Amino acid sequence: MRKSNILKMLLLFIFTATSCKSQNTPTLNQKTYTFKKGDQNGIGKWYLGREIAYVMGFEGINWLERSTREKEENTSKLIKNMDIQTSDVIADIGAGSGYHVFKMAPIASKGTVYAVDIQPEMLQAILLNKKYETYKNIELILGDEKSVNLPENRFDKVLMVDVYHEFNFPKEMILSIKKSLKQDGKIYLIEYRGEDPLIPIKEIHKMSEKQAIKEMKAAGFKLEKNIDNLPIQHCMVFVKS
Ligand SMILES: C[S@@+](CC[C@H](N)C(=O)[O-])C[C@H]1O[C@@H](n2cnc3c(N)ncnc32)[C@H](O)[C@@H]1O
Repeated sequence: MRKSNILKMLLLFIFTATSCKSQNTPTLNQKTYTFKKGDQNGIGKWYLGREIAYVMGFEGINWLERSTREKEENTSKLIKNMDIQTSDVIADIGAGSGYHVFKMAPIASKGTVYAVDIQPEMLQAILLNKKYETYKNIELILGDEKSVNLPENRFDKVLMVDVYHEFNFPKEMILSIKKSLKQDGKIYLIEYRGEDPLIPIKEIHKMSEKQAIKEMKAAGFKLEKNIDNLPIQHCMVFVKS
């Protein structure tokens, strides 16, 4: 095991208690956010007219790794949509079990894929995956609710799959991502399509393109394109405006 990883493991344990506790106890910020009771799967905190969803706990890791996922979401097509170059430096924010990380790492073979998550258990699952030792270009980063904790002006691409809608501090997170992105860097924002009631996902875990544009605009991004080729998700590409 790489030395840096052992250090990271230690940090993971230290941060476990505080990180998991804080994700369900939003701090008041009256200027940007409002608070009112809403969906039972929501945290009662609203941003630009949208209620924020609870963070999916690490106990749901098997769902992220389900064997039907490729067929349901066409994740191969999503990775192709990203047009990954061998030298790309990519961050997967809310990487979970590393489902997409392990698909991107062999393509960005001369670059680096940073897996960022606020749950140490998720990073630990990546660390313990056999593929982690195979690919030498994966970095694990423990993020927090307001920051991705990544180096500045470094990233070509940022991927967020099924996570943005559960950021407790969406505005702060996108501003933090903005700092880490190169000037011409791109965000790939992947969310279940909120416009389609037939998609079998709870409403609060979906997002419409209109809402995504509104929120990304508030943090200084514009929609470059929505690649309309995934079965149930938006594949929205945002760039700095
Ligand atoms: C529904 S899972 C999706 C995981 C992965 N993107 C996938 O599609 O397989 C959402 C993940 O985002 C993480 N998450 C939530 N808020 C976060 C934040 N502010 N920063 C980093 N990760 C976050 C959660 O811990 C969880 O692992």
